[in-house]
Amino acid sequence: MRGSLAINRRTVFKLRQIGIATLGSVKIKILLCGCVALTLLAVANRNRDGSSSLWGWTSDVASLDRSSSPRNGRQVELIFDINKEDSLNNRFKEIKDLETDAVFSIDDDVIFPCSSIEFAFTVWQSAPDTMVGYVPRMHWVDETKGKDKYGYGGWWSVWWTGTYSMVLSKAAFFHKKYLKLYTDEMPASIKEYITRNRNCEDIAMSFLVANATGAPPIWVKGKIFEIGSTGISSLGGHSERRTQCLNKFVAEFGRMPLVSTSLKAVDSRNVWFW
Ligand SMILES: *[C@@H]1O[C@H](CO)[C@@H](O)[C@H](O)[C@H]1NC(C)=O
Repeated sequence: MRGSLAINRRTVFKLRQIGIATLGSVKIKILLCGCVALTLLAVANRNRDGSSSLWGWTSDVASLDRSSSPRNGRQVELIFDINKEDSLNNRFKEIKDLETDAVFSIDDDVIFPCSSIEFAFTVWQSAPDTMVGYVPRMHWVDETKGKDKYGYGGWWSVWWTGTYSMVLSKAAFFHKKYLKLYTDEMPASIKEYITRNRNCEDIAMSFLVANATGAPPIWVKGKIFEIGSTGISSLGGHSERRTQCLNKFVAEFGRMPLVSTSLKAVDSRNVWFW
């Protein structure tokens, strides 16, 4: 128990060191993809019924020539899908020849120990229709704005209320069928809105899954680090823009599909007090 804890700490430390040393370079993304791939391969090998898969999306053409790198004597194949059109909807484009059911969606500025991924994957296997992720967000009814008006709550709100209704696709598992659903069924007006505003594709995906299942997502406990703070969420007016997205999507869906919950999945092997 203590031993595995020490390894985890060391791994986290090492990852953080790598993060600092190569921040902003392509290398970090390749390492990260390799790490995710190896973990999923290991998990898939153990579960011979084999429902795991890996896919990466990038707009970084420079990383193409590094698309295959041997690690631990194992060849990890990475496939990059280069899109002509610069649209955030591309991250949820249907992947035709995906052989396995699980999709792990990850941003290029997120890094965390591989052990976290394995746990989230087992949670997803127990609820494959659900979105399972590390970054919870919430919505709340904004009565000051009128009936059916909503506000977007960041992690501060989630911490304060202990409630959430979305997990962000910056680090989440979901079934591959939702890629097809997003591609085929997401209203064009929402897709256009996302392309124009370069934001909220993750909220749209949360709406889609909630609309299909009528159930909340699952937040799993896991250490994740966001390297650099140049992302859109660090810009001013972030929560206003997210609130606008929420209300736009509610209008398009004709209702608020998101379901709130307070459930959080933890790996009980790592819990000392209970
Ligand atoms: C939302 O769910 C309804 C009822 O199941 C369905 O008719 C509709 O197509 C869904 N909307 C989207 C965008 O998937």
